[in-house]
Amino acid sequence: MVLAHRILFFGSMALALIAMLGQVAIPALVRAAIDGALAPQAVDGVTPDGGLSNRLWFFVVIIVAIGVVRGVLTAAYRFGLYRTAFDIDSDLRTLLYEHLTTLSFSFFDRTQSGQVISRANSDIRSVQMFLTFAPLMSVTGVMFVVSIVFMLSIHVPLTIVAVLPLPGVYLVGKRLRDQVFPLSWIVQARTADMSTVVDENINGVRVVRSFAAERAQINEMAKAATRLRWAGVRTVDARARHNPIIENLPRLGMLLVLTYGGWLVIDGQVTEGSLFAFTAYVTMLQAPFRTFGLFLMLGQRARASADRIYEIFDTEPEVVDRPDAVPLVEPSGSIEFDDVSFRYRDDGPLVLDGFSIQISAGETVAIVGRTGSGKSTIARLLARFYDVDDGAIRIDGADVRDVTQLSLRHAVGVVADDPFLFSVSLAGNIAYGAPGSPRPEIELAAKRADAHDFISSLPAGYDEVVGERGYTLSGGQRQRVTLARAFLTKPRILVLDDATSALDVAVEQRILDGLREVGAATIILIAHRMSTIAAADRVVLVENGRVLASGLHHQLLASEPVYAEVLANLGDDEPHDDDEPDDDPAMAGLTTEDRR
Ligand SMILES: Nc1ncnc2c1ncn2[C@@H]1O[C@H](COP(=O)(O)OP(=O)(O)O)[C@@H](O)[C@H]1O
Ligand SMILES: [Mg+2]
Repeated sequence: MVLAHRILFFGSMALALIAMLGQVAIPALVRAAIDGALAPQAVDGVTPDGGLSNRLWFFVVIIVAIGVVRGVLTAAYRFGLYRTAFDIDSDLRTLLYEHLTTLSFSFFDRTQSGQVISRANSDIRSVQMFLTFAPLMSVTGVMFVVSIVFMLSIHVPLTIVAVLPLPGVYLVGKRLRDQVFPLSWIVQARTADMSTVVDENINGVRVVRSFAAERAQINEMAKAATRLRWAGVRTVDARARHNPIIENLPRLGMLLVLTYGGWLVIDGQVTEGSLFAFTAYVTMLQAPFRTFGLFLMLGQRARASADRIYEIFDTEPEVVDRPDAVPLVEPSGSIEFDDVSFRYRDDGPLVLDGFSIQISAGETVAIVGRTGSGKSTIARLLARFYDVDDGAIRIDGADVRDVTQLSLRHAVGVVADDPFLFSVSLAGNIAYGAPGSPRPEIELAAKRADAHDFISSLPAGYDEVVGERGYTLSGGQRQRVTLARAFLTKPRILVLDDATSALDVAVEQRILDGLREVGAATIILIAHRMSTIAAADRVVLVENGRVLASGLHHQLLASEPVYAEVLANLGDDEPHDDDEPDDDPAMAGLTTEDRR
């Protein structure tokens, strides 16, 4: 990726190098000025009237010019390097999220996605920091070597005296970092803990209030704050003990240089200018030594981070298009589950176990079963969120693994049982699967989902931005928006996974009655109440991952004791206005609270 930003990067590096060399050159020039144009022993240093000679002016001008150029270059290379780092950062982020979106649902089942994302964020930051730091460090290294060579060329023993305290600076700095860095992790972790407490309190404010648990939550918060404070104090303490040493070691070096160097000057072994240059270099050399350890550590961290980033990149999606996959074009909508077996995890239980069902195009089928019997799994497999372990699922006779995922997901619209909205406008939420849809079509879809009236009554109507995850809407309103979202894409096969459970029966009836107008050929209603089941041509009873019975509602009710039992357990006390006998004893005395 660095390659993409090569020009900017190497350009900046070149500028940095020139700027650093300028920095090294200044003490050398001052030395030449002092010795060549100022010192009394200089032949033509001072004019007879005591004014500054032309030669001295020459040095002054050069030094000022170098200083100015250096300033400009420094600004330029810093901009260039940071810019490169941010470019790489945004590339990495885009690539990473792109990759995350290709990963299969099984990955998100296994992983705590929030953690993956925050880890990826801090990993990217640490790589980015190193990428900014490493080039600067290498340029500093060059500066260091050039300075040392220059010093050695003037006087070897004085050079040795000058660099004597440097290892001390490095060691003390290392000790400080060894203490502070584990602490900085702790600080980070505890800050995260604290924001989790805050987060939960804000998101769960209704639960907190309704159980009058404010006091307990405040105590939790205070505990987290105390723990954070401990780590903060320890950090400051470590810094307070080490920083004076780190700051004073260079002064010790200066003392040594001035003492020994002063003696050398008096002895006539080095010039005053050289002594000045040495004192300047001693100060200049501290910086690389102080940062070198930091550099090594950042390097280690960046490597670990890069490894973790690659780990995500190396995770292969499990559900992929076959190389010879063909698009599923305008299927008529017949569905076949042929002896399907499926488990979510290799070591998990069989969720579907020899599940077989045939649904013809144009049929409306209700799937009924206990909670956890695998109903939602059937919907997920049909849209190929997961691949079956055994058997096959076919649409119009084509195995879903042989068609492209894109065309499959266009053909199969699944409205999940947990309505999820994005924090965008309602129009944006409805048009999520068909971006750029004209407003009349969005409104039509909303009307069919019985959402138009409540949306129109909002202050901003369709442009109203829903709160985080749609919590500004009621459960039933959210369900209607997700229904409209699916209706707008006009899928050939429509699966409503308990997607009308939070609606009033009358509203549900209106939606179900208009379902055919949406244009779906085949409709699967995963249902747990009579009113929904009544809208279907046929009922399929699922138990233990297989089809236990299939037929008309009243047939099943008469012939299949488990059906009556399941319905009883699911509960439904609402009257339903179909022509079936309604005096079934199994239906009596049930309340909505029995529902899951
Ligand atoms: N993502 C998942 N990972 C592991 N197990 C799952 C997952 N989703 C559902 N299950 C399990 O599979 C079984 C069937 O779930 P599901 O199809 O959602 O049931 P239903 O919709 O009929 O209530 C349950 O036992 C459930 O715990
Ligand atoms: Mg379910």
